Amino acid sequence: MTSPTLGRSNVTEFFTREEFEEAADLIRSHAQRSPSVGLILGSGLSPLAADVTEPDIISYQDIPYFPVSTVEGHTGKLVVGQLEGQEVLVMQGRAHYYEGYSMQRIALPVRVMHTLGINTLIVTNAAGGLNPTLRPGDLMLITDHINLIGMAGLNPLRGPNDPRLGPRFPDMSQAYDPVLRRIALKVAAELGFALQQGVYICLAGPSFETPADLRFLRMIGADAVGMSTVPEVTAARHAGMKVLGLSGISNVASPEPSEGHETTHEEVLEAGKTLVPKLIALIKGVLREMGKRR
Ligand code: HPA
Repeated sequence: MTSPTLGRSNVTEFFTREEFEEAADLIRSHAQRSPSVGLILGSGLSPLAADVTEPDIISYQDIPYFPVSTVEGHTGKLVVGQLEGQEVLVMQGRAHYYEGYSMQRIALPVRVMHTLGINTLIVTNAAGGLNPTLRPGDLMLITDHINLIGMAGLNPLRGPNDPRLGPRFPDMSQAYDPVLRRIALKVAAELGFALQQGVYICLAGPSFETPADLRFLRMIGADAVGMSTVPEVTAARHAGMKVLGLSGISNVASPEPSEGHETTHEEVLEAGKTLVPKLIALIKGVLREMGKRR
């Protein structure tokens, strides 16, 4: 591993408000705009950032404490500019727990966004479709999540709580904002494509699931499975940010795999290509609608 942030024990790695401020200061010093909406683009979904006008582009590696993604399809650049009349900060790619980062470091960018004054977070990911109605290329509006990785002890809020950042025991009963969800459904209907709705479940990865894993995940009520998003949403809700979550279904996660078929990262990236135009149209529409309601 070449990342300077890996290689030391990160099990008890905690960050302070001063460190979030330090990262925010670096971003402020490189960006002309003060964003109010943050976007995190998952595997293969980075092209959306190309539509940001008057962009200031900052490499993650130049931002103090930022985790740098080591995975193909994650560009590792932060783009600050305008999109559909909104001041946005777009993360092209994210870091994952399976890369070796602590949960606290994975959630750090969201806390830095909050420090910058961002109050709305739009998170996207590539996910496997557990619900048989979900097909590769579909978009799923996340209505709720199952924090399986958190139940196993991996929660970014573990450690000392600074009450200036958020409460010790944050409420998660409406993790995905009902108003933003309604806006997304309205925009999708206007665009004329189906936006499915469902529950996302986060696993640690990086190995994909066995058929028995998948049967279990389906049984406990998950519709789509992935390896991200939930830690970020947990940190965002802790800080009182509103969240919209969208999963691009990249592959079928079926307990009865067709013989000879294996789930691969290439498949995930390939589906990203067909998903990108829909996702771009949807997110732009949501941002436009948010502007009207301000
Ligand atoms: N499982 C877990 N994570 C994923 C998948 C999957 O099938 N597809 C994309 N991310």
